[in-house]
Amino acid sequence: MSKTATIAIDDKTIDLPVIVGTENEVAIDIQKLRDLTGAITLDPGYKNSGSCKSAITFLDGEEGILRYRGYSIEDLAEKSNFLEVAYLVIFGELPSTKQIETFEADIRKYTLVNEEMKGIIDGFPKHAHPMGILASLTCALTAFNPKVVDVEKEGDMYEAVCKIMGKFLVVATWAYRKTQGFPLNYYDNTLPYVDNFLQLMFKLPTGPYKINPVVLNAIDKLFILHADHEQNCSTSTVRMVGSAHAGLFASISAGVSALWGPLHGGANQAVLEMLEEIQKDGGDADKYLAKAKDKNDPFRLMGFGHRVYKNFDPRARIIKKAADEVLAELGVNDPILKIAKDLEEMALKDEYFVARNLYPNVDFYSGIIYRALGIPTEMFTVMFAIGRLPGWVAQWKEMRENKEPIGRPRQVYVGEPLRPFKEMSNR
Ligand code: SDX
Repeated sequence: MSKTATIAIDDKTIDLPVIVGTENEVAIDIQKLRDLTGAITLDPGYKNSGSCKSAITFLDGEEGILRYRGYSIEDLAEKSNFLEVAYLVIFGELPSTKQIETFEADIRKYTLVNEEMKGIIDGFPKHAHPMGILASLTCALTAFNPKVVDVEKEGDMYEAVCKIMGKFLVVATWAYRKTQGFPLNYYDNTLPYVDNFLQLMFKLPTGPYKINPVVLNAIDKLFILHADHEQNCSTSTVRMVGSAHAGLFASISAGVSALWGPLHGGANQAVLEMLEEIQKDGGDADKYLAKAKDKNDPFRLMGFGHRVYKNFDPRARIIKKAADEVLAELGVNDPILKIAKDLEEMALKDEYFVARNLYPNVDFYSGIIYRALGIPTEMFTVMFAIGRLPGWVAQWKEMRENKEPIGRPRQVYVGEPLRPFKEMSNR
């Protein structure tokens, strides 16, 4: 591979360094481009632009490969658990028994959320979307945890990681409890992390709550599959906000807002709403496939397509298999699962989708499992956020530890040239 890229513009020809990553990804380092040529690059949506070097997640969109810190998503989903994967993603290595026990014990030091936070929740209307509540509560945590993280101090960073892991899970479930008019539950420090998610969500003061191991295992696996995904929209947002040295809670809150978008994490809710609409409309998948292909119709096949994967999203494969298993184990016969499978089968044979490399992504099947597990549709993206938290934290930590500069893209101005002020009488 050449060590430089030559760029000729006007009467200038320059050589720019070429960087090759661990998995042979190639990048032209353009940090000196403007100084040497006066020109910048333009890349709306950053389809061709790398924002950073990162050692956390590797994905290959053409081959459908996803690895966290070098471990395949297939291995981690099958052999690990969410808290272990969170430790791996954030600290770089799979933990020993002692390390994971210490991590869980340290998280438990911060699982009590300040009671005054309940006053903030009281201010929301019952119909408020849980993602809006979660973004607000996450930022509000700053008010009760004002200490600025000194990333140079390992203990400071570690404490901040444990704090956000403990408190985010609690406030995420409070967003649901608020919309149901249920009392807010507390984290139970005698229970494991993902068991706590279930009791925080569903335990009622009127009786005991029994955790279903099938549900627990499925939720744990789904959180693993969402833990990180390199420089996606919400993670890039967390890095951008953090690059201004805004706090960790504020940066994560910004990530929650970005994830809410239906083109990103909000797609899992949009998929279910789409499948329910198709079901209500007689289950005619053909009709909706045609709508998705019609340029005059804004309808898109939610859960299909991906900025990077031009092959099956490996997570979708795992979730689809889990959906079959979980629904069978729970004895759930959900007709929309059949609609989803019909849609997938037809799209994978359809020229429009094949030509554009549009395959099911992580959001296509996750909602079907969440629904079977009793998670309400409006909470699907909150589930995504809980799973993605370790990735956001890891990427924020890496960006700060690498002392990356504040993010500030350039632009090409296409507005009015200089013009004289126009008096009111002339307007
Ligand atoms: C996530 O980045 C990540 O890693 C994200 C994520 C993560 O883990 O963080 O993986 C999670 O966000 C998954 C994606 C969830 N979103 C959806 O399922 C929404 C539906 N998908 C699309 O909106 C779309 O595919 C995107 C947003 C995911 C990707 O869009 P791109 O890369 O900007 O591609 P594009 O919009 O330029 O589409 C290319 C072509 C266009 O047609 P042409 O103009 O070439 O004729 O494909 C078409 C698009 O119209 N197209 C679709 C389509 N997705 C793309 N047509 C119909 N249905 C779709 N879903």
